[in-house]
Amino acid sequence: MAINVALDGPSGAGKSTIAKLASKKLGFVYVDTGAMYRTVAYYIASNGFDPKDTQRVVSELDNITIELKYIDGEQAVLLNGENVSDRIRTPEISMAASSVSAIPQVREFLLETQRSIARENNIIMDGRDIGTVVLPNAQVKIFLTASAEIRAQRRFKELSEKGDPSTYEQVLADINERDYNDTHRETAPLKKAPDAVEIDSSFMTIEQVAERIAELAEKAVSENASASEAAKKKSAAAEKKQRTLMPINPIKKGKRINPMRQGFYNLARPFVRFIFTHWFELTYEGVENVPRDGGNIFASNHRSYGDPVFIALMTRVPISYMAKEELFKQNIFFTLLIKAWGAFPVVRGTGDTAVIDTSVEKLNSGRNLVIFPEGTRSKDGRVGKGKTGVALIAAVAQTTVVPVGISFEGEKLCRRKRVVVRYGKPIIPAELGVTDTSTKNLKLLKKSIMDSITSLVN
Ligand code: DC
Repeated sequence: MAINVALDGPSGAGKSTIAKLASKKLGFVYVDTGAMYRTVAYYIASNGFDPKDTQRVVSELDNITIELKYIDGEQAVLLNGENVSDRIRTPEISMAASSVSAIPQVREFLLETQRSIARENNIIMDGRDIGTVVLPNAQVKIFLTASAEIRAQRRFKELSEKGDPSTYEQVLADINERDYNDTHRETAPLKKAPDAVEIDSSFMTIEQVAERIAELAEKAVSENASASEAAKKKSAAAEKKQRTLMPINPIKKGKRINPMRQGFYNLARPFVRFIFTHWFELTYEGVENVPRDGGNIFASNHRSYGDPVFIALMTRVPISYMAKEELFKQNIFFTLLIKAWGAFPVVRGTGDTAVIDTSVEKLNSGRNLVIFPEGTRSKDGRVGKGKTGVALIAAVAQTTVVPVGISFEGEKLCRRKRVVVRYGKPIIPAELGVTDTSTKNLKLLKKSIMDSITSLVN
């Protein structure tokens, strides 16, 4: 897991200098989020717009692309491909940045870029809302302060050295105004996170503060290493536990499903099929592979909430399928609809056996069971890694698994979408030699199922 250090504090507390130094010591990437707000401000100001004109700023966001690049370890910020790192450091842009940063849409606009860098790298990220909003799960949070006068002295010195004519009084007034703006705005105001360590840098050297931050980060790195070691041990223990074989409980084929249920299904199926085939461009392949009886598992890739319906439209016997418990807490109409179609809730974290028992029960009641081995829907249509649950259920139930591949282009299922549903050759666990639930056998069965689904999708 990447280590994230969130460094927040008011303007001029020395965040960027200290973060640069600490990140060098640690070999972390330094991410200056203030530079991103400044870049938005620079775009607005240099195009002659008013940074306080919320409507205008928001409508211009579509024309702005911000990228962070690291050149010799230094962060450079690119505005629509152009390096503007130096041009965003003027007092005018500081004030404009304070204005645009109060606009919620601007914050939203930058959020994902900030989070994605933090997901992939060990970073020190500085700003105003990093510990509270951007990275609430950061392992280390620092709130760096210093009195307004001391901050003004530091900034004044810095500006004078650059030849900026601002007086100390102007710099102090600017700092006070930005402090006020940053702490009083409605969205993500500057605020210490409850779990942040506060460091007052008024009478500390840069080196001292950086050292303190580096210490805290190093502690987080070593804690992270021991946590992942412990997680490894835990999963090895869990795997060992799973190796104790589960009793086989073969499905009694030929068992008739409850006639009421079957009757309802016989009535509903042509109606639903009519709707679905008119709503989508639906094509079926391999229908000859669908068994005429019940008690079979249909293992499919998962693309949309429509999948259980697509699969069931070609089965004579109604299906059951697992659905996240959350889905039963949405609107009542949706809940009734999925229940009528055979959904039963799985509560995450209840342990395998409860789900296995319920699944075997459903199969034993004569129904077909639809399983999405990937666990979640795939947005891009690629078939992800399958979980072992499908193989475990099939091995315990010793029943036929019909692999299914559902394909459509793009992310969302919508009207007129061309949808192809392919049923593959049934897989019979015993024919693969899978007659118990040993890890080796489950792996073999899962592989056979997932390979088959993948070939049906492609
Ligand atoms: O840190 P800085 O002075 O470069 O920041 C410029 C402005 O951007 C400042 O007024 C506060 C705002 N900012 C913010 O609102 N949230 C952040 N995470 C970083 C900066």
